[in-house]
Amino acid sequence: MNFELKTLDLAGAAALKCDALVVLVTANFKPGADALSNQVALALKADDLQSKPGKLLVLYRPMGTQCVRAVLVGAGEGTAKQVRQALVAAMGTLRSGAAGEKKLVVCFASNASAQAVQVAVSTLAEASYLYTTTKPKAAADAVTLGRVTLGVPLAASVKPAFTQAVATVAGVEMAKEWANRPANHATPTLLAQAARSLSRLPKITCEVLGPKEVAKLGMGSFMAVAQGSEQPLRFIVLTYSGAAKAQAPTVLVGKGITFDTGGISIKPAAEMDEMKYDMGGAASVLGVFRALAELKPAINVVGLIPTCENMPGGRALKPGDVVTSMSGQTIEVLNTDAEGRLILCDALTYAERFKPRAVVDIATLTGACVVALGHVRSGLFSASDELAKQLLAAGEASMDLCWRMPLDDEYAEGLKSNFADVANIGGRMGGAITAAKFLQRFAGKFDWAHLDVAGTAWKSGAAKGATGRPVGLLLEFLLANPIAKSAAKPRTKKANLVAKT
Ligand code: BES
Ligand code: MN
Ligand code: ZN
Repeated sequence: MNFELKTLDLAGAAALKCDALVVLVTANFKPGADALSNQVALALKADDLQSKPGKLLVLYRPMGTQCVRAVLVGAGEGTAKQVRQALVAAMGTLRSGAAGEKKLVVCFASNASAQAVQVAVSTLAEASYLYTTTKPKAAADAVTLGRVTLGVPLAASVKPAFTQAVATVAGVEMAKEWANRPANHATPTLLAQAARSLSRLPKITCEVLGPKEVAKLGMGSFMAVAQGSEQPLRFIVLTYSGAAKAQAPTVLVGKGITFDTGGISIKPAAEMDEMKYDMGGAASVLGVFRALAELKPAINVVGLIPTCENMPGGRALKPGDVVTSMSGQTIEVLNTDAEGRLILCDALTYAERFKPRAVVDIATLTGACVVALGHVRSGLFSASDELAKQLLAAGEASMDLCWRMPLDDEYAEGLKSNFADVANIGGRMGGAITAAKFLQRFAGKFDWAHLDVAGTAWKSGAAKGATGRPVGLLLEFLLANPIAKSAAKPRTKKANLVAKT
């Protein structure tokens, strides 16, 4: 899909030739002197149209316009949520298949905030997204928009938000593509190829390590998870260099289990197919890099993706096995289904070499997080109040929400082992937190946050599929907190401390 942003009033929108013209009508709508404004005003007066979000009226070739159909839709006070509601309703009226709308104009009849524009772009992209890789015929009866023109009263004021939103869509769609692909079309090798293809984009490099290199690094924990599979593991290192070398990078670590059977601690059959999205964290890292290449911000970012399958088999890891992580800590594997933390811990140790300003790992880590937070907010864990604040704010701004969870040391009690430095599970209760406490042991050398996206990276049910989350959150976090700003903060804090003591 192709987006463009234009300064348009209703008269201007009416003059554009298009298949469908969507007019977002807010409560404070003030009609101009043009024919379309007049129609909207009359419809409102007759109560055939209301500004209530999602209420709509469809007109066929209305006089004085160049569109085939006009969809007048209520958008409440024009808040981001209401705009999303309005556009979901409007998109529901569009026709699919060969006769469907190709050129769409969406016009904000009155004010359009930056966040409303952002949400308009993401909602339109979401509504017309289609997975076709292993179902090419799906395209025949889908709404396939070619070109979308967003008309706002003043394009210049919302241009940066628009540009970020369009880049986010590219990243979200890449993340969805890879998370949606079945595991036989998204092996660790194929995922690494996808990462490699990103290095053709500006400012991005990609290095892919295989079993030999990973063994040499001493990633015994990661290797142990991979050993049950015929598919060789890959360790992907992406870099985006938008700033001077001296600027410490933010490191993103994505869990890349391309299929999670549970291993010897095998999962039940029902819905096991969905475990193809256990590389949703990895997919979101790829998506962020895709978007960075488009926006070219002056920051440095490293992406680390440990990727393998978690399979049972003659060579597979067994409950009770003790493995040695790259950090030197030994781990007793009491449940082979708690494999995400086993591959992430070695990636976290590897992250130390970048002397990062912060490390954020993204993982479909626990079913317990889905129980705790459902599908609305991702679980956020961090011992750093500053980092947590930045990520929470980025979630709100991008409408890709998260919620901070605790990290009290008492939650680590259950991870004690008689046979190793730590066990990989800590009892049934508070499972999302004990998983985070496990990771925290490997993140002592930098500011760290963990996002558990088990509930948010995927939708179950009839509309089953990947969501592309948390690409929007991560991108907003990276763009809103460039190094100069965040480096200044700890320094002032320290200065304050010194002054006080
Ligand atoms: N990939 C799963 C977590 C998961 C569950 C993601 C449901 C998405 C939806 C993870 O590897 C896992 O199996 N976790 C176990 C941990 C347990 C054995 C301590 C879980 O959540 O049951
Ligand atoms: Mn598992
Ligand atoms: Zn898993």
